[in-house]
Amino acid sequence: MGFPETRMRRLRSSASMRRLVRQTSLSVDNFVYPLFVRSGRAVKEPIGSMRGCFHFSPDTIVEEAAEVASLGIPAVLLFGMAKQKDENASEAWADDGAVQQAIREIKKQVPELLVITDVCLCAYTQSGHCGIIKDGRIDNDSSCQALAKMSLSHAQAGADIVAPSDMMDGRVGFIRQTLEENGFQQTAIMSYAAKYASAFYGPFRDVADSAPAVGDRKSYQMDIANSDEAMAEIALDIEEGADILMVKPAMCFLDIIYRAKQSFDCPIAAYYVSGEYMMVNAAADAGLIERQAAMMETLYSIKRAGADIIITYFAKEAAKLLR
Ligand code: PBG
Repeated sequence: MGFPETRMRRLRSSASMRRLVRQTSLSVDNFVYPLFVRSGRAVKEPIGSMRGCFHFSPDTIVEEAAEVASLGIPAVLLFGMAKQKDENASEAWADDGAVQQAIREIKKQVPELLVITDVCLCAYTQSGHCGIIKDGRIDNDSSCQALAKMSLSHAQAGADIVAPSDMMDGRVGFIRQTLEENGFQQTAIMSYAAKYASAFYGPFRDVADSAPAVGDRKSYQMDIANSDEAMAEIALDIEEGADILMVKPAMCFLDIIYRAKQSFDCPIAAYYVSGEYMMVNAAADAGLIERQAAMMETLYSIKRAGADIIITYFAKEAAKLLR
């Protein structure tokens, strides 16, 4: 039946009518808030390239974690910075590293808040690459071993979920096996399964002081033009023991999120990355778009595409709006 019997505008006629037929709902339950930790005491330093984000030390991060939990956000994602970078990224699994200390403090003082940790070597290697370099190339298998050690040290400190973001082949399997062998059967793995070599990590690389000294990340992160490959990556990570599968970035890859959700029966996470976040902020600051409306529209688009979990620097702000 067509017009005039069908009038699509009937169901758009008032705010309540629109609310009644709204198909996608955003909830604070969907959010993960990223936090940055470095060693020291009493540190809370604004990160110039990313509005509203700070470097915390393990003591100050607890207050921030408590605020995140009080907003109802279920999880934080921790990123670390090395004091001393070296060839083998050895600080990545130091028991007294900044991330390990921060995990312990948060789990002690805000136990209900889930702690997810980013597992990657790029902030710990001199090269700034996500893997270990041997004979001038990024060596896959020794990098996986290092990532497994790093994951284990996070689990030992109390991390609920480890999140490898390096894109080495087979790393999820190495990590799962190491966790099993050491009694951490309950530690979940959220794999950055389909992580693209994106221009939208720009602001973040300043934050973590982890831009590659030479070359780029295209020999391990995915080609932006591919989508079948993302499905293959996700399938492999599920087989290797990942519990949650991530697509990153989010907004240029909504088709990948959609396809992943259609193809796999497991939770899909999307990472709304630093460049996407700052693009919205910059446009709003220039008076071109309305900040909160744009924030909500982007978050809805990611949810509508099929993401169950959205990792976003907007989490606190959106949580306040959704209350
Ligand atoms: C580390 C890592 C990066 C991001 C998350 N984990 C940087 C990169 O891969 O270059 C980016 C996060 C963001 O831009 O918000 N491998």
